[in-house]
Amino acid sequence: MSLKIINISIVSFLLQKTFPVYSLPNMELKAKSPMKTQSQGMNRVTIWAVIVAFVVIAGGAEARNVKTFNTFEYSAMSCRAHSASVTEFGAIGDGKTLNTKAFEAAIAHLSRYSAVGGGLLYVPAGRWLTGTFNLTSHFTLYLHRHAVLLASQDIKSWPLSDPLPSYGHGREAPGGRYMSFIFGTNLTDVIITGDNGKIDGQGGVWWNKFHKGSLKYTRPHLIEILHSRSIQISNLTLLNSPFWTVHPVYSSDIVIQGVTILAPVKSPNTDGIDPDSCTNTRIEDVHIVSGDDCVAVKSGWDEYGISYGMPTKQLVIRRLTCISPYSAMIALGSEMSGGIEDVRAEDITAINTESGVRIKTAMGRGGYVKDIYVRGMKMHTMKWAFWMDGNYGSHPDPHYDPKARPIITGINYRDIVAENVTMVAQLKGIPGNPFTGICISNATITMAPESKKEPWTCSDIHGITSGVTPQPCGMLPAETTTCHFPERSLPIEEVKFKKCIYRGSHA
Ligand SMILES: *[C@@H]1O[C@H](CO)[C@@H](O)[C@H](O)[C@H]1NC(C)=O
Ligand SMILES: *[C@@H]1O[C@H](CO)[C@@H](O)[C@H](O)[C@H]1NC(C)=O
Ligand SMILES: *[C@@H]1O[C@H](CO)[C@@H](O)[C@H](O)[C@H]1NC(C)=O
Ligand SMILES: *[C@@H]1O[C@H](CO)[C@@H](O)[C@H](O)[C@H]1NC(C)=O
Ligand SMILES: *[C@@H]1O[C@H](CO)[C@@H](O)[C@H](O)[C@H]1NC(C)=O
Repeated sequence: MSLKIINISIVSFLLQKTFPVYSLPNMELKAKSPMKTQSQGMNRVTIWAVIVAFVVIAGGAEARNVKTFNTFEYSAMSCRAHSASVTEFGAIGDGKTLNTKAFEAAIAHLSRYSAVGGGLLYVPAGRWLTGTFNLTSHFTLYLHRHAVLLASQDIKSWPLSDPLPSYGHGREAPGGRYMSFIFGTNLTDVIITGDNGKIDGQGGVWWNKFHKGSLKYTRPHLIEILHSRSIQISNLTLLNSPFWTVHPVYSSDIVIQGVTILAPVKSPNTDGIDPDSCTNTRIEDVHIVSGDDCVAVKSGWDEYGISYGMPTKQLVIRRLTCISPYSAMIALGSEMSGGIEDVRAEDITAINTESGVRIKTAMGRGGYVKDIYVRGMKMHTMKWAFWMDGNYGSHPDPHYDPKARPIITGINYRDIVAENVTMVAQLKGIPGNPFTGICISNATITMAPESKKEPWTCSDIHGITSGVTPQPCGMLPAETTTCHFPERSLPIEEVKFKKCIYRGSHA
């Protein structure tokens, strides 16, 4: 843990040095002012304790039966009428006892309230070791500030699940995939939140096996939710996922807010958030340090993704901070065979990251990436500010159609400041199938002392630039324009959280 806190202090320090006006709420909280937050929290608790004590005293005889009162506020898309603590189902938070049965029983119990006000499962302070478990509808998983969910490291106890139909295979191996640590399918209204509690995938065992080549199936995600509607993931720290960290698939109306995701920068494929064939998603106030792309937008793989045909669209990403020295801040693809459209990224910051927004595709993918809008991007210490790659390769099997062309068009980037950059751009379309409608305006890129002489590499692309330094390649001639960013907001931007009050008489 101490290492991670140091990490966060460094991030905070770097950010303040680089962008003095930029503030990093969650990280600063941790790095600098734990006392302040705690005392604010305590004030709330104290006020409630006084009210509760008054009620208890007024209640007279009942007071003797009440052991613990625990009342707090949290924000969520929907509040719940019923609740239970995982301790009521025999869970023990000693970091050693395996609590899978307790989690399953608690969620099975609360699922009975789906149609009558919904249920909240409270996870108190403690270290709760468990195997994978399934979520249910109209359900909230709430983690106390000092609660840590620990994923079992006994790989034998991880069940297998089917490959996704839009991938045809597991991403890393043919056949099934290990079930994600926290899993949900065919749900409505599911919330994972807390007072910044932690979910630790303890991915080290998986990364080692992956490096040794000894895994037969694709590694599990930390959180995966399929075929669901109305999903909230907020106010949590997600650590050390075995594979991609948060993976919503075939789902809609998703808000991911106030989440910190951390994994070692050399851990394999620990993407932060991967919206995959999802509609109407909002990702905001998120800080990610990871071994792969911070956000990777996807929609299925080659012939399987083409036939499933479900795009990712109406995606908002704002106030994202990313550190990923070997990958992108936001990747579009490489699995994009169902299409990616209407992505709006704003106020995003990358530090010590390979590239900013990266488009990855290849012949055989089919699909499209279109109507992409980026406004307000800050970068520091980057290999490439802009990267588009039409020859990414990586196919599920030999049965893909090598003639299936991906269409890349309508890519808009504006208001960009980047410092200490090795190469401004590598923009490579597909010969005979160029990427079109590229627009870059108001971008100031400052090169690193040991940067390449030729800062732009361009082939098979069409577009324009305006107010961009250093001078762009000839394929992006200068005009006077401001690249487009839509003014009308998307439906997910209108979704507001309610104030919910939790009143538990259990620890
Ligand atoms: C979790 O859900 C999956 C998919 O529906 C199912 O195969 C699995 O048996 C469930 N696990 C439990 C413990 O209910
Ligand atoms: C979940 O929903 C999908 C899409 O509607 C459907 O194909 C699938 O059979 C459902 N699965 C379950 C377990 O109900
Ligand atoms: C959750 O995070 C949001 C911002 O991301 C913050 O405004 C809110 O106070 C946090 N709530 C709790 C209970 O920590
Ligand atoms: C600039 O980038 C180089 C890597 O290209 C790095 O070694 C150096 O520390 C960076 N300088 C600053 C001031 O961040
Ligand atoms: C250019 O970008 C900078 C940095 O994002 C921003 O502060 C400025 O307002 C932009 N200028 C125009 C004319 O939009």
